[in-house]
Amino acid sequence: MCGITGYIGGDKTTDVLIDGLRRLEYRGYDSCGLAAVDSKNSLYLKRVSGRVDALDKLVAEDPVKGARAGVGHTRWATHGAPSEDNAHPHTDCSGQVVVVHNGIIENYLELKDRLLASGHKFRSETDTEVIAHLLEEKLRSLNVQAAAVRSDLLEPVFFEAFRRTVGDLKGSFALSAVWSRCPGMLLAARMHSPLVVGLGEDENFIASDVSAFLKYTKRVVFLNDGELAAVRRDGVDYYNFAGKKTAKDSVTIQWDSTMAEKGGYKHFMLKEIHEQAEAVENTLRGRLLPLGGDILRTEVGLSAADLKAFSSVQFLACGTAHHAGLVGRALFENFGIPAYADVASEFSDRAKLTGKGALVVAVSQSGETADTLFAVREAKASGARVLAITNTVGSTLTRESDYVLYTHCGPEIGVASTKAFLGQLAAIYLLAGHFAAARGRLPGGDARRYAEDLLKVPRLIEETLEKEKEIARVAETFSSSDHFLFISRHVNYPIALEGALKIKEIAYVHAEGYPAGEMKHGPIAIIYKGMPVLAIAPSGRALELMAGNIEEAKARGADVVAVVDPSSRKLVKASRYITLPEVSELFSPLLTVIPLQIFAYYVALAKKCDIDKPRNLAKSVTVR
Ligand code: G6P
Repeated sequence: MCGITGYIGGDKTTDVLIDGLRRLEYRGYDSCGLAAVDSKNSLYLKRVSGRVDALDKLVAEDPVKGARAGVGHTRWATHGAPSEDNAHPHTDCSGQVVVVHNGIIENYLELKDRLLASGHKFRSETDTEVIAHLLEEKLRSLNVQAAAVRSDLLEPVFFEAFRRTVGDLKGSFALSAVWSRCPGMLLAARMHSPLVVGLGEDENFIASDVSAFLKYTKRVVFLNDGELAAVRRDGVDYYNFAGKKTAKDSVTIQWDSTMAEKGGYKHFMLKEIHEQAEAVENTLRGRLLPLGGDILRTEVGLSAADLKAFSSVQFLACGTAHHAGLVGRALFENFGIPAYADVASEFSDRAKLTGKGALVVAVSQSGETADTLFAVREAKASGARVLAITNTVGSTLTRESDYVLYTHCGPEIGVASTKAFLGQLAAIYLLAGHFAAARGRLPGGDARRYAEDLLKVPRLIEETLEKEKEIARVAETFSSSDHFLFISRHVNYPIALEGALKIKEIAYVHAEGYPAGEMKHGPIAIIYKGMPVLAIAPSGRALELMAGNIEEAKARGADVVAVVDPSSRKLVKASRYITLPEVSELFSPLLTVIPLQIFAYYVALAKKCDIDKPRNLAKSVTVR
């Protein structure tokens, strides 16, 4: 759950590394560091406990001279507290070898004992440091005779030592190493953690994801599990772990580096909230009509006959993506298609029950969430086919799934997911529409109407976003509340969960999302005078019961904020209203979640929370 960067080329090494680390901070941000080889082939190393800004300052105070290769790292602690000692890069005893790593080395204790016994001195509590010492050991065993050897002649030795080191590791790693005696080559390896190579002109890059080097190049090569890269200034060679050379194709990434910047908004989260109409539009474009036809076959590989044949649909995901899965379940069930939704980390036993006929839909913005990947592997082992809904081209999930339906949201930097959620919902509505039409559940003109209504949603999202100031005012009145309750029913019940999750994540307050009908079975007891209750009550079949549940909450003193549309507003008696444009109940989650995101944002803003990087959280969770 860390970000790594690497660079080899001109003399802007530390600038490139720091710039990349800034863009990767969403992957973890409790400490960071960089290392480079200077013009005298000595190792330059700077690390801080804290953010990249502090590292930048440190480097500016004592700049490196003539560095043309280096690696950087931003960390989210897994082994060892977030401290300077535990910050990467880690070095060996000689101070010549330096390593950055994302992932977990499962056999590190065993390796560490062995290395300690042979005299190695450890300076950190991390699992990563064993890699540096192991590499030192392998270099020694290859019997490198010091000074006389030209650095380029050492490249095969460095490569072989690195390859053998990687061979001893168990667990997950995206790894890069530099050896100060061999500054013309940077080595990288991947196993269960993301790693990409960026191809420049007379310079090359590596990183955990492309946003780190998009400013310099859009040409990238995705490493697969079990692959190594030897990165030189003038080219990159790829190998498998056995040392056999492999050919790899590069792809050109369409994302623009300014797309990953804040563009005038105070926080990425707010910017991303405002990008939601576009995210939905881009995800739907060209993929809807004719519903149930073969449109998914060409892009995803699922024919109309496939859609008819699946016995059920099983959603798997974590966090916000799980809430998208829950909406998906309601949607598929609405069309009479058996559907299930589980948090990936609780899937284990159900995997065996999923069966060969099911389509597992794994939803993940990053495509790298360890729990989701693990659950997918379990589902596959039970014979199910897997469709990935993800925002990340080339991510592990895409490579492990049978089918991929991309959301087209652009990079999401805010840790709390917003536009990626809308993109996931759009993809799920798209999929549900095709399933329903292929199975005769949207007869006559209904399929066309479904598609047309869905295509109107981006404009309605824009209209909803115009309510930002009004929602902000409501949020500010509650900014000192310590407890929030979010309630709804049916297709909006997952939105109540998502509203509660958003405010927990970024404003650090206690919040619960509950099915409104279930309140009377317990949660109503926690309601006190003035407690904020956010009730999602658009028009539709759930409205009448919702109106009753709102009354129950009010009778216990709740200060109810009702998310309504002009028609439902007439039926609901709340203390305050947020009125959204009218849309059919089935599509309403695509709108109702937006005021809840904005609400959480402004509560967090009033509380001066670190909105884009909430405490204890990380954007991409690559540990189980
Ligand atoms: C982390 C993030 C959440 C996200 C979840 C799943 O917990 O903080 O915002 O919803 O991971 O991420 P994924 O990339 O799989 O959608």
